[in-house]
Amino acid sequence: MSEPFSTPLSRRDFLSTSAKLGAFIAAAPYIARGADVVGKSDQLNVALIGCGEQGGVLLNAALKIPNIRFKAVCDIWSYRRTYGERLLKKFGHDPKPYEDYRELLASHPELDAVIIATPDFKHAEHTVAALKAGKHVYCEKLMSNTVEGARAMVVAARETKKLLQLGHQRRSNPRYQHAKDQIVTGNRLLGRVTNISGQWHRAVTDDFGFPANQAISEAKLHEYGYANMHEFRNWRWFKQYAGGPMSDLGAHQIDVYNWMLGVNPRMCIASGGVDYYKTHQWYDNAMAIFEYPTKEGVVRATYEVLTTTSAGGGYHEYFMGDEGSLKISENPKYTKLYREARAPDWDQWTAKGIVASPLSGEGAPPSVKPWEKVGVKKLGGPAKASTVDVRETAALSAWDIPVTLDKAIHQPHLENFFDAIRQGTPLNCTGESAFATAVTILKINESIAAGKKLTFEPSDFIA
Ligand SMILES: NC(=O)c1ccc[n+]([C@@H]2O[C@H](COP(=O)([O-])OP(=O)(O)OC[C@H]3O[C@@H](n4cnc5c(N)ncnc54)[C@H](O)[C@@H]3O)[C@@H](O)[C@H]2O)c1
Repeated sequence: MSEPFSTPLSRRDFLSTSAKLGAFIAAAPYIARGADVVGKSDQLNVALIGCGEQGGVLLNAALKIPNIRFKAVCDIWSYRRTYGERLLKKFGHDPKPYEDYRELLASHPELDAVIIATPDFKHAEHTVAALKAGKHVYCEKLMSNTVEGARAMVVAARETKKLLQLGHQRRSNPRYQHAKDQIVTGNRLLGRVTNISGQWHRAVTDDFGFPANQAISEAKLHEYGYANMHEFRNWRWFKQYAGGPMSDLGAHQIDVYNWMLGVNPRMCIASGGVDYYKTHQWYDNAMAIFEYPTKEGVVRATYEVLTTTSAGGGYHEYFMGDEGSLKISENPKYTKLYREARAPDWDQWTAKGIVASPLSGEGAPPSVKPWEKVGVKKLGGPAKASTVDVRETAALSAWDIPVTLDKAIHQPHLENFFDAIRQGTPLNCTGESAFATAVTILKINESIAAGKKLTFEPSDFIA
């Protein structure tokens, strides 16, 4: 397929639209016009660079999407390259394997798109090369471990006019989209959002190893920029290759802060350290505070990533407003919606399917009357000190978000990317928006290292 926007309708869209309208004959000219591109626009030729853990996850998700044909895979580690190749062959693809991405790009002019799931420090190099070779790119987060790398990616996409989607997949998750469009921004069920907290708490893990007979030679590791096998396997913990847990885990969630609020922060202050692990360079526990200047006033946000305990409720983002709160996570079991006792009732939103009725049974807090009524009835007069107590302790009612994701968590984000190539659907995470997230994340580590509060200028977020 040559250009993404060359046909006004994909073949599938055209057929279903025609059938719906009963307009097959009237629309016949589209068939002739689209005939030579329709077949191509239905099948996209794709390659994967980086067949590690996430490369495998993306392959499995992409294999569920119709008319995607993997033509090539690349990995410097034959162990993982073979895994990618075998997985695809199992599903009827016949990918050519490469150690060097440059050879892959030079050998496959038929490719429409490249998916990149290599360690963060390679994202800029691989993305820029693929864009310059005329391919659309889906690259994993964090965009890059340097602001310069991330900027180069945006600039290359702009110059080549190719699509660049970054792997912040929550932006394509229908539950997150519903929360943003129908609960937080649209309909404003939380009222004025004043605070956000977010966390990812993960138990202690061992370093990654490798099968003894699968070690890469030292010469080859050096050629590709790795000091040794330990660093190659545990790259996310080393400063040369990545940004540590804040960038690995926090990137997803702080991206949601920026996206959901529609603004970038103006200030960051953070604390963290290598408190526990002996074999890592990056902070294993870190906490950050941000100020977001929204139209309604400041939103104060905290975020913490802990890699030495799983206590305290897993991973979620918690948006708190004066009328309600949204606790949302990629894991549905950590997702809940709460209405403040003082807020208008949500009957109309239940009727419209925006929220689901209060939970009942196990885990549901007792439903309460609005605090004013409780206070007036109980006290029978004007507010006294105890009225305040009633308000402060009034339980929130818990509600559900009636939208679920019935696919692999990365599938909708890949679908959005492929739809953008085929029919011009807007990307859910462009290079420009992911750049702002990368700038935000990298500032946290900078603030920890400097031991002080740092500010952002609006121009910092523009690539
Ligand atoms: N979106 C998500 O939810 C999510 C989840 C996990 C990881 N990720 C991201 O995916 C990327 C990969 O992470 P991972 O966990 O799969 O790591 P990994 O170490 O398991 O895999 C990386 C792979 O890249 C290969 N590689 C390294 N350098 C290469 C090079 N120069 N050329 C070709 N191949 C090379 C390695 O051999 C390895 O197979 C990272 O950017 C990570 O942040 C995203």
